[in-house]
Amino acid sequence: MPANKRMSYSIALLLSAVLAPIAGCGGGIDPASANAVAGCEAATSDQLAAGATMLPGRACLNCHKAGGQAAEHAFTVAGTVFSSATGNCNSGGVAGATVEILKADGSVQLTLTTNAVGNFYSHDPVMLPLRARVKMGTKVQEMSNQQSSGNCAQCHAKPGLSGASGRIYL
Ligand code: HEC
Ligand code: HEC
Repeated sequence: MPANKRMSYSIALLLSAVLAPIAGCGGGIDPASANAVAGCEAATSDQLAAGATMLPGRACLNCHKAGGQAAEHAFTVAGTVFSSATGNCNSGGVAGATVEILKADGSVQLTLTTNAVGNFYSHDPVMLPLRARVKMGTKVQEMSNQQSSGNCAQCHAKPGLSGASGRIYL
């Protein structure tokens, strides 16, 4: 091969060696190794970027906890509201829904609003066990049983786990 081709070939090799570790694991964010996939399809590269709209539907607290991939940003509750209990994760999130975290007695202890992809999260202290209610307009869904985790997608996954029928939906 001509010298100039060989040169650009080795630059390409060098570049891919430098970039592959970053691209390959989304800058260290890896839902599979955190066991956070919750039955979701593969995440897009945008969704692997850290921030409020990341990884809708995945089990946020598997990373956002002490010892997790986002240990500096531990959450007390987090999850995603979808338009269907059994749909995919990368689209179908419901923006602007109200999420009420209830105490065991049913009184409201924390009120959150879902963002553009349907995600909600908080660092504020939450009393366990908790219950929850999601609502928007005339639609309301309420969790009547008490649960001892704010990691909503731990149960609200596809398929649903621990008795949940699927994702949180309105
Ligand atoms: C596979 C691991 C993983 C999962 C799952 C995950 N995150 Fe993150 N998240 C991270 C990492 C890593 C950071 C960057 C933390 C840092 O900068 O120290 C981050 C940062 C953030 C931030 C910015 C920091 C902050 O606390 O304001 C927000 C907001 C956030 N994530 C929300 C979520 C939400 C909501 C979910 C679930 C729908 C979620 N994340 C799921 C790993 C994850
Ligand atoms: C340990 C498992 C578990 C966790 C964690 C959990 N849920 Fe649930 N959720 C359930 C089960 C089981 C049901 C069905 C029975 C009931 O209503 O209590 C349910 C029902 C619901 C419902 C009623 C609609 C439906 O799908 O049946 C909503 C809304 C809900 N949960 C929201 C939440 C929110 C918000 C969180 C996180 C703050 C959360 N859940 C965390 C297990 C869980």
